[in-house]
Amino acid sequence: MIASTDAVVALDGVTKRYPGQAAPAVDGVDLAIRQGEFFSLLGPSGSGKTSCLRMIAGFERPSEGRVLLDGIDVSGVPPYRRDVNTVFQGYALFPHMTVAENVAYPLRMARRPRPEITARVGEVLGQVEMTGFESRLPHQLSGGQRQRVALARALAGRPRLLLLDEPLGALDLQLRQQMQRVLKHLQEQVGITFVYVTHDQGEALSMSDRLAVMARGRIEQLGTPRDVYYRPATPFVASFIGKTNLLHGSVAAGDAGSSAFRCADLVIPVAGDDPAGPATYSLRYEAVQVAAPPRSGEVRLEADVEEVVFLGESAEIVTRVGGVRIVGRAPGTGSLALGTGDRVPVAFLPADLVRLHEQA
Ligand SMILES: Nc1ncnc2c1ncn2[C@@H]1O[C@H](COP(=O)(O)OP(=O)(O)O)[C@@H](O)[C@H]1O
Ligand SMILES: [Mg+2]
Repeated sequence: MIASTDAVVALDGVTKRYPGQAAPAVDGVDLAIRQGEFFSLLGPSGSGKTSCLRMIAGFERPSEGRVLLDGIDVSGVPPYRRDVNTVFQGYALFPHMTVAENVAYPLRMARRPRPEITARVGEVLGQVEMTGFESRLPHQLSGGQRQRVALARALAGRPRLLLLDEPLGALDLQLRQQMQRVLKHLQEQVGITFVYVTHDQGEALSMSDRLAVMARGRIEQLGTPRDVYYRPATPFVASFIGKTNLLHGSVAAGDAGSSAFRCADLVIPVAGDDPAGPATYSLRYEAVQVAAPPRSGEVRLEADVEEVVFLGESAEIVTRVGGVRIVGRAPGTGSLALGTGDRVPVAFLPADLVRLHEQA
């Protein structure tokens, strides 16, 4: 249970079971989204993101728990009575209507006065940077432009909340990144709360104020992009977001309040208050420097290079050290000099080792 009266959207113990499905699609989710927030649901396909969004929109009812909008239980309220709009990937414009007519459509349905409609259409097309396209038909637009018009139409009536379900999924990488900036900027400008569904971690990290990482219908971790990136709570979050080494072993107390993490033949000093017992640590690839000059306070180990993977702007060096596979990066063009079988130092700072909670 959560105190949710100040949240625009809250899910309170929400579970969704579909007929004929053994496992629930959404399993006991608690969530509170604040006014004006860009909030993302991030997770792999099938993790329950769309189901959450459809319950917020009112297209599905929770099997258990409550959906609250502005503190009011809307579990029985139909979609058209909620002050919520949804944009999804295949969100279709009316093909026979111009851009301006498409954007005006929801306002006409709401019987707004004509001068107000004209003014609002101009304003919202400006916000999505589509001024000048008013009289085009949808087939005369690119995919990215159509998606902007769809956004303008969704925002025209100034909904309290905009839900977006993988809206950029059909666009190529470059256009997607451009649209990410447009969307983020737009959201800041209009101040409407956005709930954004994506399976793309880069997208969620770059746009969100906060995000919930989902797996198997549950929230694995909820926090800011920096929280989930630098302080992943579980092995799932650590490996789903970014690239990381997961080191399994155990922690034992040493002398003078120190502790050590033993992982195969490696012994790594860790914070003295890390609880003893079985442990998994996350160590990001970019935190591991291969063949780099020493820094004070770092953990420095001798490793054998197993593979050098060239990625363009960087290279990943797969090494083996004390029976453990550790992947790191070589700074600058350092990877050019490295090859399989080389003996090199690998180094990281103790603070880059993040202790994870074991998964149930
Ligand atoms: N209408 C439905 N009927 C039955 N099962 C569904 C339905 N919608 C989704 N599911 C199942 O629920 C799980 C979560 O789906 P979904 O919410 O679409 O996840 P995501 O959006 O993260 O891919 C999946 O296993 C999916 O197959
Ligand atoms: Mg989905």
